Amino acid sequence: MQRIPLLAGNWKMFTTLAEAVDLARAIADHPLPADRQVMLAPSAPALHAVAEVLRDTDIALAAQNVCWEDKGAFTGEISPLMLKEAGATMAIVGHSERRQIFAETDELVNKRLTGALQAGITPILCIGETLTEREAGSTMTTLENQLRQGLAHVNLIRGDELVVAYEPVWAIGTGKTASAAQAQEAHGFCRSVLADIFDKAIAQQIRILYGGSVNPANVDELMAEADVDGALVGGAALKAETFLPIINFKTQ
Ligand code: PGA
Repeated sequence: MQRIPLLAGNWKMFTTLAEAVDLARAIADHPLPADRQVMLAPSAPALHAVAEVLRDTDIALAAQNVCWEDKGAFTGEISPLMLKEAGATMAIVGHSERRQIFAETDELVNKRLTGALQAGITPILCIGETLTEREAGSTMTTLENQLRQGLAHVNLIRGDELVVAYEPVWAIGTGKTASAAQAQEAHGFCRSVLADIFDKAIAQQIRILYGGSVNPANVDELMAEADVDGALVGGAALKAETFLPIINFKTQ
């Protein structure tokens, strides 16, 4: 099975409701290449309105986080069923901002991911090393631990039920991008760990996105790498003029 490139915009805690609708419209109004998939992750209060804009398009809608329970006393959380009702089919889990600012552990990320899968929401599991870990030479150990713990007790029937995003923490919002070779090294390693966790065929189907200061100038080079199957884009996804060229990256 061929891995369809996924260009995903993570809008984080940006955009008013009106701005979210306008941005979604500006993206949806452009003809999108048929050989790739686009996903938008607005803040939770904008999900429903953005879903209306994306109705009758092929653009997927994602939440930026997800709880594991369908309902209950979980103040501040949003259940997978609520997200589905709002129109989301995918959910980011374990973003480094959740891990660093909100102290989310691999165990919690695993619960969120499992809850999403059970509800039929495709999780995008974010992993990535800090600068200290990279400088200490422990990048691959960090990635392997985050994958094994984040995916503990997870069974997949098909690899397209899951997306992984490699996002080196030092490259997020900093303007510093991993080189294409650094990205490929990490992605290739992640795929070998996924093959060990699941099996080789499933690992070949799982899309591994790169995230961290992706922009129109570096996307072509990153996407040319064999194991880079898409991009999770923050800053450059907040404007149509920078996100559209990323969606329209050139294949070599
Ligand atoms: P950035 O964010 O593109 O602004 O570096 C990426 C992300 O956090 O997903």
